[in-house]
Amino acid sequence: MTQVIAVANQKGGVGKTTVAVNLARALQLMGQQVLIVDSDPQGSARDWYQASQNQNSDMPVVVGVDRPVLETSIKKLRGSFDTILIDGAAKLQDMTVSAIKAADFVLIPVQPSALDIWAAEDLVELIKARQSVTEGRPKAAFLVNRQIVGTRLASDANGALEALNLPILAARTTQRVAYAECMSTGSTVLDLETNGQAASEIKAIVHELHTLLGTPLKG
Ligand SMILES: Nc1ncnc2c1ncn2[C@@H]1O[C@H](COP(=O)(O)OP(=O)(O)O)[C@@H](O)[C@H]1O
Ligand SMILES: [Mg+2]
Repeated sequence: MTQVIAVANQKGGVGKTTVAVNLARALQLMGQQVLIVDSDPQGSARDWYQASQNQNSDMPVVVGVDRPVLETSIKKLRGSFDTILIDGAAKLQDMTVSAIKAADFVLIPVQPSALDIWAAEDLVELIKARQSVTEGRPKAAFLVNRQIVGTRLASDANGALEALNLPILAARTTQRVAYAECMSTGSTVLDLETNGQAASEIKAIVHELHTLLGTPLKG
């Protein structure tokens, strides 16, 4: 059964593409057939894929769909992949709605500041509106991204996350050079340093998603 995971947040620079690409690679290394759908007209995931082809042609394939037709396009791709990851668009409301409709699960990366978290309020509203007409689909959760190593989440950030009333993954990414480096070189943290700390963070996120999705992620 295909799982469709949208990595969404209308704010730019929160780590959507970084998270989507690294999760896709982790799932692929577990033996899954994985596709990345780049729904952002800026095409960062497509740029990453192009860069990847200079060194590792085995990376998960990225295709661009930057018209709000994700629901129908992805319906046709279901069955051909174990997981389809949608790299969400910044700003564009219709693209985000389309991604929510296509998804079984929406992962919302947020930087650990109350302001950034409150900026996701509109997205949370969109997801809840959708859930109310589709018996709770898609499920959704926050992912704290770029936490500073050694710090706790500020209490105002925790409060904001709780107020929006969606689960928060215990697994998170911290601020690490490896994440920035892999994006520009078409690699992933799992390839840069297989047993490194960034790789462990990504594996922990995959593990937790596995539990939240309810149905097992193959591999
Ligand atoms: N955990 C992290 N540590 C360090 N840099 C990160 C991390 N996550 C993302 N970045 C960097 O932040 C910038 C924005 O990330 P990106 O994934 O492109 O965000 P978005 O897709 O939401 O616009 C990129 O330069 C990326 O390399
Ligand atoms: Mg992006």
